[in-house]
Amino acid sequence: MVGVGMDRYLQANARLWDNWTMLHATSDYYDVAGFKAGKSTLTPIELDGLGDVSGKSLLHLQCHFGLDTLSWARRGARVTGVDFSGRAIEQARSLAAELRIAARFIQSNVYDLPAALHEAFDIVFTSYGVLSWLPDLHRWAEVVAHFLAPAGIFFIVDHHPFASIFGSADGGELWRRVAVPYFPGPQPEVTESYGSYAVSSDERQGIEYNWRHPLSEIINAVLAAGLHLESLHEYPYSDFPVKPGMECGEDGWWRLPGKGDGMIPLLFSLKATK
Ligand SMILES: C[S@@+](CC[C@H](N)C(=O)[O-])C[C@H]1O[C@@H](n2cnc3c(N)ncnc32)[C@H](O)[C@@H]1O
Repeated sequence: MVGVGMDRYLQANARLWDNWTMLHATSDYYDVAGFKAGKSTLTPIELDGLGDVSGKSLLHLQCHFGLDTLSWARRGARVTGVDFSGRAIEQARSLAAELRIAARFIQSNVYDLPAALHEAFDIVFTSYGVLSWLPDLHRWAEVVAHFLAPAGIFFIVDHHPFASIFGSADGGELWRRVAVPYFPGPQPEVTESYGSYAVSSDERQGIEYNWRHPLSEIINAVLAAGLHLESLHEYPYSDFPVKPGMECGEDGWWRLPGKGDGMIPLLFSLKATK
């Protein structure tokens, strides 16, 4: 069904994510000690979006090292997490074993998953920092639809593509500046990566290949895969400081400072059914 496969861009990204996993597993940002002590990594957006998951089968695409996947398992879902980083999958399996949480983790490129996994799920979930790593959203949405059982629910919350056009302009001034196009071509953006979004460091981690997708492309991919759109929401806050100068509120969400607050969308969520 799908044929994007692990081309050289995705192979480079997988190597970078192997390196990032090692940084992230001990980072304050991911707070694994807090997770082990019982803290959930899920936010009100996906908790409200999916409601009660107990007893449901849940496929988590691009699960990183499994904290969200295991948080859903703690809420009673029967979880399968998928990621193309071998180190992320190893780390996720080791956490599940240590915490005695029932969970299955599979190392696979999203596009190759139909060849590796043969079942349907009540829920397909993916979140926070996923679509920019995928070159082809139509094939991605076909994979999502492929794994949904009849009446199954797909839920995504991710960074809003509109926010990405302002580059890394200071948060307070960001709404004044457009640095890159909202409608990029098919070529990836290439970035030398030092540290990661979660850990600041001068140490080179690898090369990052990213694709920006306008909101219309995301929605049309989901519709073209035969899914029914249930809801689309946009939020003026984010799960982490995507621009310099952002401020974290008491609710844990990051907002643009000063005049920037509320000016542009920073996250979106979409719910669709099969
Ligand atoms: C930002 S993380 C996901 C975020 C998750 N909410 C978290 O913070 O734990 C993105 C994940 O996508 C994975 N990834 C990127 N491209 C992928 C692909 N083509 N197939 C499978 N996994 C991929 C990376 O390995 C990484 O673990």
